[in-house]
Amino acid sequence: MIMSVGEHILAIDQGTTSTRAIVFDRSARPVATAQREFAQHYPEAGWVEHDPEDIWGDVLATAREAIAAAGLTAGAIAAIGITNQRETTVVWDRASGEPIYRAIVWQDRRTAATCHKLKADGIGDMVASRTGLVVDPYFSGTKIAWILDAVPGARARAERGELAFGTIDCFLLWRLTGGMVHATDVTNASRTMLYDIHRQQWDEDLCRLIGVPSAILPQVHDNSRLFGTTAPGLFDRPIPIAGMAGDQQAALFGQACFKAGEAKSTYGTGCFMLLNTGETAVQSTGGLLTTAAYRLNGKMAYALEGSIFVAGAAIKWLRDGLGVITHASQTHDMATRVEDSHGVYMVPAFAGLGAPYWDPDARGAIYGLTLGTTQAHLARAALEAVGFQTRDLAATMAADGATWPAALRVDGGMAANDWLCQFLADLLDTPVERPDHLETTALGAAFHAGLAVGVWSGLDALAQTWRRGARFVPSMDAGHRAALLAGWQDAVSRTLSRR
Ligand code: G3P
Repeated sequence: MIMSVGEHILAIDQGTTSTRAIVFDRSARPVATAQREFAQHYPEAGWVEHDPEDIWGDVLATAREAIAAAGLTAGAIAAIGITNQRETTVVWDRASGEPIYRAIVWQDRRTAATCHKLKADGIGDMVASRTGLVVDPYFSGTKIAWILDAVPGARARAERGELAFGTIDCFLLWRLTGGMVHATDVTNASRTMLYDIHRQQWDEDLCRLIGVPSAILPQVHDNSRLFGTTAPGLFDRPIPIAGMAGDQQAALFGQACFKAGEAKSTYGTGCFMLLNTGETAVQSTGGLLTTAAYRLNGKMAYALEGSIFVAGAAIKWLRDGLGVITHASQTHDMATRVEDSHGVYMVPAFAGLGAPYWDPDARGAIYGLTLGTTQAHLARAALEAVGFQTRDLAATMAADGATWPAALRVDGGMAANDWLCQFLADLLDTPVERPDHLETTALGAAFHAGLAVGVWSGLDALAQTWRRGARFVPSMDAGHRAALLAGWQDAVSRTLSRR
């Protein structure tokens, strides 16, 4: 354990549309937050990119702002924990630290044809049994290969060891340590389609088949350990970086789901339901992912994951794409203003469909429009789609042998919406529990960092900090639920591509 004088933890939560820095105290309460939204780039249909320099600039600025807003200096920060949008891929030059291409975001579909070919070549079973994943453009592997082929000379430079790959956690660690450390953690590694989650090492066969030279890959570590120390000049004194985890696994940790059978669902840009399966890596037969939940002191805990690509992103589209709302919170009043969605179903396949359908070629669709359809019905249909997709995930987990959750813990920005939480409880027919603050992703990263530096003594101490804010109990009658679900299934089946 690293001993440190500070008692606060700074969590950096680098998400898909915004970057947040939050200072937590020992009782796991957020004492100061700084946040910035950043630009999304859509150079072609189905492509999504971020500028890594935007991300780095925002991380540094929000981290400094949050420390100042807490009335602290770096000396009071015992450690930094990093959590990140997963799968998003950066390749940079080891000598200059400069990215050679913009970050290709997890939602990006440009490698769909490559993935179809890989599947046709028969590597699906190998990918599933070694990485726990399905072959899909979602994951980093084919994105790395795409960059190496698209940037002149990059593949040869990668083979000579001149380039580095990282997911966002890894890129930030590199920058924060002044280029001293090229490392990631097991949860982020497990999202690359290149990492064997059972042997817990990079898989040479998959690297070769996907076209990724192993010289480009980072070292893979436990989630909670001294990853490095911030470079001189970034803060008023160096701070240890002692925790890293992908955002969904961090949320599972922040929700204190430490026991097998405990599940959470996070509503950010997408929605990701993770069920802790303990030491057992459960292989799904229905389209869920097997993934690293966390590794502490060399001991791995696994999770079964349902990944939905669009949740909050549909609300953002109502705001930025259609101009139907000016603020996401308006959807709550719009949804309650109408009795139902008036028969409207939105299938938000804006970035293809993830679990359990895995259809990268599907595109978004709205069904059931009539002259009576209003903006409120559209808003309600967008929220309802989040509920229907969550129900699909829970049903798939149950089909894979998981017990239906006795209660589902929810978090993320959209979980602030009471109407949505009630609808989730009604559709799942199970209580939905919301913690008293929704920044569980950042808290999970703080927990990992705090464990490493002794701010918290162990998992029991972390579990004691979990405080329930609200509980939503199911009240929908079974017939109504069945009718809604049948309408959703019909809409999805019409949206799936016929490939
Ligand atoms: O796998 C993608 C996920 O990590 C993105 O999370 O919070 O941006 O929806 P979020």
